[in-house]
Amino acid sequence: MHTTVGIIGGGPAGLLLARLLHNSGIDCVVLESRDRAYVEHRQRAGILEQSTVDVLRSSGAGERLDREGLVHDGIELRWDRKAHRIDFPSLTGGRRVWVYAQTEVCKDLIALQLKDGAPLLFEAQVLAVEGATANIKTGDRPVIRYTHEGQDKTLICDYVVGCDGFHGVARDAVPESIKKTYERVYPYSWFGILADVPPSSDELVYAHSPRGFALLSMRSPSVSRLYLQVPNGTDPADWSDERIWDELDARFAIDGDWTLERGPITSKGVLPMRSFVSEPMSYGRVFLAGDAAHIVPPTGAKGLNLAAADVIVLARAFANLKDTGSAELLDAYSDTCLKRVWRAEHFSYFMTSTLHTDPDQSAFETRLQISQLDRIASSPYAAAELAENYAGLHIG
Ligand code: APR
Ligand code: PHB
Repeated sequence: MHTTVGIIGGGPAGLLLARLLHNSGIDCVVLESRDRAYVEHRQRAGILEQSTVDVLRSSGAGERLDREGLVHDGIELRWDRKAHRIDFPSLTGGRRVWVYAQTEVCKDLIALQLKDGAPLLFEAQVLAVEGATANIKTGDRPVIRYTHEGQDKTLICDYVVGCDGFHGVARDAVPESIKKTYERVYPYSWFGILADVPPSSDELVYAHSPRGFALLSMRSPSVSRLYLQVPNGTDPADWSDERIWDELDARFAIDGDWTLERGPITSKGVLPMRSFVSEPMSYGRVFLAGDAAHIVPPTGAKGLNLAAADVIVLARAFANLKDTGSAELLDAYSDTCLKRVWRAEHFSYFMTSTLHTDPDQSAFETRLQISQLDRIASSPYAAAELAENYAGLHIG
């Protein structure tokens, strides 16, 4: 099989890229190793920036988002038993965020893709990418080797885009002699739960506490999504529902009248936290987008939005090549994305290190965290810096 753009991975990055390329009249094929149900039910992020919402709408995938998505104008921070609200529109000139789960974004994009998009093959395991620097003038082309329906297959492409996440294979196409990776693994993880109970706050609540971080988020007016900072290697089975709710209560505690409503927990999972960047994000005719190129700790709600921003830049570059014959934007892809990626890496690190209590941190470091949070509450400039980064910066 031959295509112009071979896309490895049918998560948000791969699916959105396929949609944008289709709308630009550029043929592509998506190879996804898992089955549809797995991709559509894998619990991940939940916050969409304005630019992500805009691209989903303009690409034809925004109808259910507009019907079911929750528009949020701010978040609440809690520390030292006090609370402070960060208002996005007043601090960012009108920006806001949407609460709409990554699972729903994937369902919408998959439905579109299967209805009128390019081929999307599930349970297609990519084994390797070859010929990243193939000279197509001599007829050579990059090749994706994969298995599907029990057979070894090849997909010949003009270009390959690795949207195959942190554990994918596309990053291997960048030679070790050229690749530079940057990584920080955090000394704690997030224990995430879904609960059939209306959220106890209209907006997200990020809580710093001596016991550890906690986050109140949501999936709908009747489903809460909550997270607890836990030690790495925590087994969800060791935590009863009551123990989870009791710990959340302790960490969200503030002076004043507020109750965390409890309900049946329907999903539990522990996810490790890391910051990671692999440079460059392209090599020859192979490009990396989303988690294949970078990982952020989820505290800043950047992962999905970074993936969307990468493929917006890449789809624009492919369209420019098709329309003008110029590969200039493709050649600039990695540098264009990395400026934004590193800004999001810093913000995600800042939110994580300010709000989480490292088990080994000193009392001095705790006081610095409190001082930082007090500063955000007392300075519109400090608050605006957080609001601008959280609600999303210009894509570039
Ligand atoms: N062959 C085919 N598909 C693969 C392979 C492979 N060898 N390896 C991984 N995949 C698929 C995975 O099954 C997954 O569906 O690639 C997809 C990668 O999707 P994500 O990991 O979701 O990455 P991305 O699309 O970049 O989206 C980033 O997802 O993990 C969250 O927090 C992250 O919100 C962010 C978003
Ligand atoms: C979520 O709803 O899953 C969520 C929200 C905000 C975050 C991280 C996760 O910072």
